[in-house]
Amino acid sequence: KPSAVIFDLDGVLVDTAKYHYQAWKELASEMGFSFTEKENERLKGVSRMDSLNILLEIGGVQLTETDKLKLASQKNKHYVSLISKMDTSEILPGVSEFLIELKQKKIPVVLGSASKNAKRILKQINLLPLFDSIIDGTNVAKAKPDPEVFVLGAQAVDADPSSCVVFEDAQSGIEAAKKAGMYVIAVGEKGILKGADDYIISMSEMSLNRLLRR
Ligand code: BG6
Ligand code: MG
Repeated sequence: KPSAVIFDLDGVLVDTAKYHYQAWKELASEMGFSFTEKENERLKGVSRMDSLNILLEIGGVQLTETDKLKLASQKNKHYVSLISKMDTSEILPGVSEFLIELKQKKIPVVLGSASKNAKRILKQINLLPLFDSIIDGTNVAKAKPDPEVFVLGAQAVDADPSSCVVFEDAQSGIEAAKKAGMYVIAVGEKGILKGADDYIISMSEMSLNRLLRR
């Protein structure tokens, strides 16, 4: 039995990538350049400031740190207004059922996300009460692929990292979890995501039985 199960948020529990994309796209268009959905792939799992730096690189724009902070907060305003409309219908298939199974077996459920909006989103979709601990962009100094977020997640529930299981949809997150010494299940395609211990396309393929058979 795993000593804890740690979930990434964006792309694992909810599909917020589309909202991040809309918010970044709006910012890009205000600056006068376009930003495609394919380019948005590069921002998955990447912190807000690092994402902005990638966006500016794509647009060939150079700015001072002060201006960057302003833009990052502008993007977050767009993003927050989009996510404030989220509700339980946006929980990805299979997620609720699996979380409830873990609760029933008293396996600690932890969030390990780069997002500073994680708690707000979990509240909106009514999943906050199912989490024993939340480690997010407000607690972490070093972004994924640094293992910090997962190391802190295990510590928060007194779990041994080697018996923790992580669900991740981003390459940086898979690397972070492996560095933390954890078992990683990638949510996505094997051809795209490298180095995970197991792969699922959707959480609806997951169950406690499958987890225990690993
Ligand atoms: C990650 C997302 O979970 O959080 C990234 O995959 C995002 O796309 C990052 O940039 C930071 O999120 P936020 O909500 O703090 O801007
Ligand atoms: Mg993610």
